[in-house]
Amino acid sequence: MHLLASGWLLRHSVVMCLLLHSVVLMTCFHHAATSCSQGCYCSESDSRGKTVRCSNLRLTEIPQDLPNDTRRIYLDFNLLTEVPSNAFQGLPLLSELDLSNNELAKLEQGAFRSLGPSLTFLDLSSNKLVNFNPEAFEGLRARANLTNNPWHCDCSLQMSMPHIDLEPLSLTGIVCETSDPPDVGAEGVPFLLAQDLDLCVVMKKTTDVAMLVTMFGWFTMVISYLVYYVRHNTEDARRHLEYLKSLPTKPGPSEASSTVSTMV
Ligand SMILES: *[C@@H]1O[C@H](CO)[C@@H](O)[C@H](O)[C@H]1NC(C)=O
Ligand SMILES: *[C@@H]1O[C@H](CO)[C@@H](O)[C@H](O)[C@H]1NC(C)=O
Repeated sequence: MHLLASGWLLRHSVVMCLLLHSVVLMTCFHHAATSCSQGCYCSESDSRGKTVRCSNLRLTEIPQDLPNDTRRIYLDFNLLTEVPSNAFQGLPLLSELDLSNNELAKLEQGAFRSLGPSLTFLDLSSNKLVNFNPEAFEGLRARANLTNNPWHCDCSLQMSMPHIDLEPLSLTGIVCETSDPPDVGAEGVPFLLAQDLDLCVVMKKTTDVAMLVTMFGWFTMVISYLVYYVRHNTEDARRHLEYLKSLPTKPGPSEASSTVSTMV
């Protein structure tokens, strides 16, 4: 009796196993049909559009075969080190891009160029970004998470701040890890909120010195020209005077003409 029951169970479980297997296979096929690139996982919903998840795949390059109707891309927890120019071309609907927790140290000029009109959120947090390159963000009005990067704050960052198109609050994420000049109290501070921090002071000083030197040069030139002019003129005037003196005083018209004729 027991044997029979266990036999039935065994057969039953084999059938179950087969069923399970086919279910797994089907989902695999389903995945294959909607998969995007390099083992990424795609999902789609009517309200939110297409989402591509490529998180935690040890990717070192940004996949180039992303579906052109993608609205959200998760590339977080990979090994990406840079975003080249036009890395996300041909994705006119992309509105959210997650690049957090990578090794990103370099964003090339125009890295997000084609995303200008559509992108609303860009996550670059927890990377290795040091120098802020405003040209990488050209035309981008998205909100960006820039926190948790080893930002270096210097005069060029200060100068570029007013020309950055990103949603202004994003810039509070630039917390300086190092600064130039150092020891001015910039470290550990969100750069945007450090009101009376002026990292261009040193540069201003050098430009001031340059201005002074140039002005001094001009001044010297003008003065020496004046001196030369005055000297030259006094010499001329003296010669003129001497010539006049050499002429006989109160010369009669006949006398003068005779001297002239004898001279000639
Ligand atoms: C994606 O590409 C297909 C084929 O090239 C094209 O028909 C479609 O309009 C594109 N979709 C978007 C959103 O650009
Ligand atoms: C930005 O990223 C950090 C770290 O990933 C996270 O803690 C923070 O909540 C994020 N901020 C916003 C505004 O999304």
